[in-house]
Amino acid sequence: MITQRPKGTQDWYGENMHKRTIIEEIARKICKVYNIKEIITPVFEHTILFQRGVGETTDVVQKEMYTFEDKGNRSITLKPEGTAGAVRAYLENSLYAESQPTKLFYITQAFRYENPQSGRLRQHHQFGVEFLGSHSPLAEVELITLLNEFIKELGLKGAKLHINSIGCKECRKVYNEALLSYLKQHEDHLCGTCKERMTKNPLRVIDCKVPACKEIVKDAPRTVEYLDDECKDHFEELQKLLKELDIQFEIDTGIVRGLDYYTKTVFEFVNAEGFTLCGGGRYDNLVHEIDEKHDIPAVGFGFGIERIINELEAEGVELAKEPNVDLYIGILGQEAKAAAYRLVRKLRSEGLIVETDFMDRSVKAQMKYANKISARYSMIIGANEVANNTANIKNMTTGEQQEVALDKVLEVL
Ligand code: HAM
Repeated sequence: MITQRPKGTQDWYGENMHKRTIIEEIARKICKVYNIKEIITPVFEHTILFQRGVGETTDVVQKEMYTFEDKGNRSITLKPEGTAGAVRAYLENSLYAESQPTKLFYITQAFRYENPQSGRLRQHHQFGVEFLGSHSPLAEVELITLLNEFIKELGLKGAKLHINSIGCKECRKVYNEALLSYLKQHEDHLCGTCKERMTKNPLRVIDCKVPACKEIVKDAPRTVEYLDDECKDHFEELQKLLKELDIQFEIDTGIVRGLDYYTKTVFEFVNAEGFTLCGGGRYDNLVHEIDEKHDIPAVGFGFGIERIINELEAEGVELAKEPNVDLYIGILGQEAKAAAYRLVRKLRSEGLIVETDFMDRSVKAQMKYANKISARYSMIIGANEVANNTANIKNMTTGEQQEVALDKVLEVL
């Protein structure tokens, strides 16, 4: 038990860690050119933030949150997603008072007590962007464009954009009535949770994962049929812009998203099997719901890093390999240690990846090790090399050796 990690969690090291680093580097690089600034919010927040923000009737709040009382009797929750915390920080730090829009990105862990399976963990990681302050569908276009570039740079081919509109509060009222009357006809076959939330928030039944509910939902009324003029115009303008910009998309009226804050546009990138890789949408009421003094529109997305890694593997995409060690500097004899290490330090300061002996191995074992770590070159530094200021440098691929002055090593490499 003591050497076992909790179910649904993962250790990051070696190949996986390298992949994650590259994914994060690509995300950061793209956010930089989109002028999106990084934000880091706490791993835990007051529980009420998620209850209010994500929504009382969502699976996330009802079943999946890691909530506990701290020693001061406050109810605290490990963040199940990144949006609510980012919006809280936007309000608390008066970012709305700066010239708008505010564009923020985060790379965060998130915690959900889910049934662990492929692509569903209890601690997962998301690259997310929140774009606050704009009503324009061009804000959605900005995020979708960014995502397309991100996906392209990763080398993924199978991710497709699906969009839908779930309307605003006003359209939702009319839609909810229609949905409720449909659900009532099938109430007996709904799962217990859906029976309960059907009257409180019927939209949540649409994304229930229970197969019997999914079957019923197939023929349920769709939100797009109930959009008011403003929401319809918004959705149409978005589609027009996407077409004008040659951005491929499909309308999927089945997408409603699992969190309560969404309004108008919702979108997902799904793989060839229809599995969601990334989800997002507009949330024009969330700021107001968290702090009623403000009414600020917003749109954002979250992309699961573990799901990216799974998808890269499924599609057979290789990310750039970890760079090899440029030079292994072996040490011969105690008296050469400091001189050898001085050289290690100097070459590292010039940007080379240099490794040396920390295990007091024999010269033969050191060479074996240099081979094992795939060092491109190796050399041995002993008292003679230090006295003559020269050493033999060996190309580990060809086996060729050449004598080099210790202050000219960089030139050979
Ligand atoms: P979400 O759809 O709940 O949305 O999660 C976003 C992404 O996180 C998913 O598409 C998936 O890639 C990944 N993800 C979610 N849950 C898990 C899990 N248990 N294990 C592994 N990966 C997971 C949100 O969280 C919203 N905050 C996105 C957003 C930002 N909407 C607007 N702004």
